[in-house]
Amino acid sequence: MVKIAIIGTGYVGLTTGACFAEAGHDVVCVDNDLKKVTLLESGKIPIYEPGLEPIVKKNVLSKRLRFTGKIAEGVNHAEVVFIAVPTPPRPDGSVDMSFVEKVACEIAGAMIEYKIIVDKSTVPVKTGEKVAQVIKRYNRRKVDFDIVSNPEFLREGCAVQDLMQPDRVVIGVGSDRPVAKMKEVYEPFHAPIVVTDINSAELIKHACNSFLALKISYINAVSAICEASGANVEDVAHGMGLDKRIGRAFLNAGLGYGGSCFPKDISAFVHIAEHLGYDFRLLKEVQNINAEQIERFMKKIHETLWIVQDKAIAVLGLAFKPNTDDMRLAPSLDVIHRLQKEGARIRAYDPKAMDKAREILDGVEFCDSPYTAARDVDALLICSEWDEFRHLDLEKLRSVMGQPVVLDGRNVLDPKQMEKLGFVYKSIGR
Ligand code: UDX
Repeated sequence: MVKIAIIGTGYVGLTTGACFAEAGHDVVCVDNDLKKVTLLESGKIPIYEPGLEPIVKKNVLSKRLRFTGKIAEGVNHAEVVFIAVPTPPRPDGSVDMSFVEKVACEIAGAMIEYKIIVDKSTVPVKTGEKVAQVIKRYNRRKVDFDIVSNPEFLREGCAVQDLMQPDRVVIGVGSDRPVAKMKEVYEPFHAPIVVTDINSAELIKHACNSFLALKISYINAVSAICEASGANVEDVAHGMGLDKRIGRAFLNAGLGYGGSCFPKDISAFVHIAEHLGYDFRLLKEVQNINAEQIERFMKKIHETLWIVQDKAIAVLGLAFKPNTDDMRLAPSLDVIHRLQKEGARIRAYDPKAMDKAREILDGVEFCDSPYTAARDVDALLICSEWDEFRHLDLEKLRSVMGQPVVLDGRNVLDPKQMEKLGFVYKSIGR
């Protein structure tokens, strides 16, 4: 059992803290949002993440997981202090590191004995050096410490599984001293552990996310060629994916990547590279292709409907991907805003993200089922691939729609079946 503090209870901090407690560690999570702290203390969570709430509840009850607003309380409790605060993008695409810096100052001020300070937030390479400088400067009692980089690779929607059964754990260190304790933290998870220097560990995270985004943009570019040539992108992805060197994952063509990580991390990596004297043209093209996917989808809408003004359009799937209520940089937002600008009336449905969507979307009629959303519409769009949409009663759907027009931005439905049922159906790359 290791005594752990996690500073920041966002997606990464909360899930990590809960899973560490579940694995038997003694965890204190710190957040400066006291409303959130109170909610978490009652065993409830502020996000939709499958399987997370029962773990939080169970470990709060067993007292292996506690929440507080005070950094000093966390730091004094812990042998290992994790920093898991946001690293949001600045308008120019670079990373705003002010939360990490502030937290590092506060940790330094609270330290009275040796601590291992671990950065879990996604940060630019060389952040470890900066954090070490800050801690040295504000650490009045001149206590010993080690800095570790331990990037997190969890995906929203399957965060608990990703944390409990990670593909690997990356530990970047500046000396051997913190290695044994870090291995003890991760021992219950039985994953391969990769020990590197701090800069390499920091780079692994940006290199991974950028590579995955590259895979998505690659298949999206191939989907454009499929459309122009009459090939089927699903068959192409299947044939490619069986090559073990390539793999089928992240070869789903669609509206492109969104969410709180990929768009931000790819911009950050381009920026970091530039700062280090390298023009990462490959990643700039990844970004361009991603933006083009929305343009190509809009073009399909125009080709099908001609005039969008005064049309009623149903949008199924608002969250940036299935199994989450996260609306951050969801492709659906871009599509809806463009359609509204052209004078369309939008009726929307999402299995989990409607509350969050209501907070950011004006003038949208939110409906309690796909069929209510589809009632009397001129067209229906699918923007994220919830399983529920794979099992729609298509006859019922067609019977409630004004016009049987479906534009599937995530290749959820089967083109042959849709055609047989009399739909005008368009999807991506097939
Ligand atoms: C991502 C990384 O996967 C994770 O390792 C990291 O820690 C955080 O960023 P996440 O943003 O939760 O996780 O979602 P992910 O499942 O990776 O999907 C990202 C975006 O890519 C979504 O918008 C998704 O719809 C899109 N995507 C994914 C595709 O368009 N096609 C695919 O084949 C896969």
